[in-house]
Amino acid sequence: MKIFKNKSDLSAYVDVLKSKNKSLGFVPTMGALHDGHASLIKQGLKTNDFVAVSVFVNPTQFDNKEDLLKYPRTLESDVELLKDISEDRIIVYAPSVKDIYGSDVMSTSFSYDGLEHEMEGRFRDGHFDGVGTIVKRLFEIIKPNKAYFGEKDFQQLMIIKKLVQKYHIPVQVVGCKIHRGTDGLAMSSRNLRLKPAYKNAAPFIYKILKAAKVMFGTKSANKVTEWVQNQFEKHDLLELEYFIIADADTLKTVKRKSNKKSYRAFIAVYADDIRLIDNIALN
Ligand code: PAF
Repeated sequence: MKIFKNKSDLSAYVDVLKSKNKSLGFVPTMGALHDGHASLIKQGLKTNDFVAVSVFVNPTQFDNKEDLLKYPRTLESDVELLKDISEDRIIVYAPSVKDIYGSDVMSTSFSYDGLEHEMEGRFRDGHFDGVGTIVKRLFEIIKPNKAYFGEKDFQQLMIIKKLVQKYHIPVQVVGCKIHRGTDGLAMSSRNLRLKPAYKNAAPFIYKILKAAKVMFGTKSANKVTEWVQNQFEKHDLLELEYFIIADADTLKTVKRKSNKKSYRAFIAVYADDIRLIDNIALN
């Protein structure tokens, strides 16, 4: 398996593939790979000759130093997981911070037509500037034909689509279904850090999302939101940061339901000091 640590070697390799008319899929990750990442990569391998996987914990998208420091870094086992998927059609890019940012570890400021001010944007200062900066840079280095993003980070997926549209980046962004464990918990690299009691408690999040979906069939967004907040108030281990029912196209919080629109519920929950997010389509 080809593993690149520096962008000029990777770019040169990609140029060779392109000169041979090979198509390239791309799955950006921050490592600690799990079955959710594996499913994105496998999807990429179905329609591309090669898939590039970046493994890079991007400092500029963290507003919390502690979270950045504790983010799991498991390159060796990540490479093993990738080898099990394909030894010869996956290209790994695992750069240093210096290779990506040089000495200027800063994000660029982006406008995503308001998408950045909702939910994660409200609770994680500068997060989407950091995400936009790294993803744009990776697109420029890797020049993929298609890039795959999970719907667990639904807002991120919409923001990347907006970024590509605004900057005329020639890549097709493909959204992929949320991958869940058998207990319903959405797969996330952060799950690795959950202590046993919290790991047992965390599937409650998806249970509540499913119940909220049923309730949304007959009740207003406000009533459903109140009910969800109540459920978490009664919970001993999980602390709700937000539950929001939003228009799936604008991500604006729903005031009054219309049957012409698509809605989605978004949730962020603390399990001890681990922040988990999830979402569900409501109609
Ligand atoms: O979703 C993630 O893991 C990250 O936000 C991404 C897209 C790899 C950018 O660092």
